[in-house]
Amino acid sequence: MIFKTVGVVGSGLMGSEIALVFALAGRRVKLHDANPTFLDQAMTRLERVLHKGVDRGLYEPDVIDVVLPRIERCAALDNYSDCDLVVEAVFEDEKVKASVFSDLDRLVSNDCVLASNTSSISITTLASKVSEARRSRFIGTHFFSPVSRMKLVEVIPGLDTDPLIVDQMMNACREIGKTPIEVKDVVGFAVNRLLHAMMIEATRLVEEGVASPEDIDVACRLGLGHPIGPFQLMDATQISLSLQVQEILCEAYGDRFKPRPIMKQMVGAGYNGKKSGRGWYK
Ligand SMILES: NC(=O)c1ccc[n+]([C@@H]2O[C@H](COP(=O)([O-])OP(=O)(O)OC[C@H]3O[C@@H](n4cnc5c(N)ncnc54)[C@H](O)[C@@H]3O)[C@@H](O)[C@H]2O)c1
Repeated sequence: MIFKTVGVVGSGLMGSEIALVFALAGRRVKLHDANPTFLDQAMTRLERVLHKGVDRGLYEPDVIDVVLPRIERCAALDNYSDCDLVVEAVFEDEKVKASVFSDLDRLVSNDCVLASNTSSISITTLASKVSEARRSRFIGTHFFSPVSRMKLVEVIPGLDTDPLIVDQMMNACREIGKTPIEVKDVVGFAVNRLLHAMMIEATRLVEEGVASPEDIDVACRLGLGHPIGPFQLMDATQISLSLQVQEILCEAYGDRFKPRPIMKQMVGAGYNGKKSGRGWYK
């Protein structure tokens, strides 16, 4: 078994389910969040995810009693010293991530691998926040939401990542039931470049009155075989996050990723998707 004890930092949408998939695969998991209330909420959410999985026949009925106790809630990072791998899934903010990684670098063992679930920040830039000795053991692991259901992980080596660590991470992903692909450390990696090119064009279609968000989602599901349409996806993951990623892609690649004005209006109005009560769908 690769990475027997896994730490996760950030217990939001992504971190909580990253913890879950490692626990489901038999790992001891430590989960920390800056906000202890979010940590409790995460455990409640994970219980719901497992219940749903049992109802769908994905897991054995005793999964909740067996798997949830493998996840230890940690008020601080001090007891991450025995982790073989720590996956960071805090806010998409370079300063916040930098401070987490510099703390981890001090607290974990020399052998521990550090991974970031960032969607848009360069892995090599994040690796520069840890000591030079650690950089060969620093890597990107870009999971997809909902992590318990989405099979793909983009595995992203930074400039100094040891190829052996890349292999180890690819194999660890396979061991937890995921399908990894190796992707270069470029802005947006591979999937977000594809996804946002489509989201921007979908938003343009709405602006031009060609079709409604609901109908474009139907087109993507029934015409392209996507499991979910771009507007449902933006509503589920917060429109502001898509806007933020497009701004970053636009800075890197130019106007082909320029966010559409209507999207800025939606976010400006506070219509940020499901969590805010209104998004592309009311
Ligand atoms: N949401 C998605 O669909 C998605 C997909 C792929 C990657 N990502 C990336 O995953 C990361 C997490 O995204 P999310 O959607 O789970 O965000 P989220 O806002 O749901 O969760 C982030 C969590 O991090 C915690 N946090 C913030 N600062 C912290 C700190 N210093 N120490 C410990 N915990 C801290 C917050 O309290 C929060 O619970 C981001 O980098 C994001 O870009 C998100």
